[in-house]
Amino acid sequence: MNKKIIFEDRNNDWEIWEKNNSIERSIKRIQNKLPEMEASKQLAKIVRRIYKKNFRILDFGCAAGHYYNSLKKIDKYIYYCGFDSTKAYISYAKKHFKKNTNIQFDTQSLFSMSKKYNNKFDIVFCSNVLHHLPSIDIPLKNLINASKKYCIIRTLVSDNTHLARFYYDDTTNRRGELNNFQLQNTYSYGLIRKKIKKIGNFKVTFENDIFNGKNINKEFTSKERKKYPGLTKFVDGIQIAGSKVFEFKWIIIKK
Ligand SMILES: C[S@@+](CC[C@H](N)C(=O)[O-])C[C@H]1O[C@@H](n2cnc3c(N)ncnc32)[C@H](O)[C@@H]1O
Repeated sequence: MNKKIIFEDRNNDWEIWEKNNSIERSIKRIQNKLPEMEASKQLAKIVRRIYKKNFRILDFGCAAGHYYNSLKKIDKYIYYCGFDSTKAYISYAKKHFKKNTNIQFDTQSLFSMSKKYNNKFDIVFCSNVLHHLPSIDIPLKNLINASKKYCIIRTLVSDNTHLARFYYDDTTNRRGELNNFQLQNTYSYGLIRKKIKKIGNFKVTFENDIFNGKNINKEFTSKERKKYPGLTKFVDGIQIAGSKVFEFKWIIIKK
């Protein structure tokens, strides 16, 4: 067998937001052109259970900062800080919230967070980001390092690890590798626990994702699907994105 085999899935160009920052709908949510996300509602419920006055909250992977709109219902003076590695979102967020002194933003990556943020927040949360990353060890470490008390993570967790790529279309690079994709990685409960254990001896609990499927499907219109091919839909009690079942869980880490 001396034929050259093309491995179409060998492309490591996973940072979709750098190529096309209109892929996120966060700005539309901030502008009230889209409703509050189901995940944002549940995050606020979890935070409400543990929140104390003057807590500092960090949203890592905040996009344009739309989770703030759910959190401010808990305390209108809530301190909210948003980090994202995509400059365009952070620039938008800084402008949008410039009059609010309780809100800050910084361009930071989960892979290289500045040490000045270690132990600076009471609650650190990261929603819908880890399943899109090629590795979660450094991101988990930075999330836990930034937090004094709690880390809350929403990502795909199941009995088995299932690492996957969803291709928006079949365009290829010069080597013939498909190059327009997002990672859709599910980690097993065991592997998540093992990775967190390596960082420290913390209490880790998993909570089910609670959502109104009808609200999710309201956004699954043909117009939106054309623009955002990986959109999630709700069928028979499960969430599906592309052709993969999305088993979202909330991971709560208590330091
Ligand atoms: C699917 S969006 C989720 C946005 C928001 N958390 C939500 O749930 O709607 C993923 C976000 O993670 C950001 N992101 C991707 N890689 C990152 C990294 N290494 N560090 C920080 N943010 C990152 C992207 O720019 C994008 O805003």
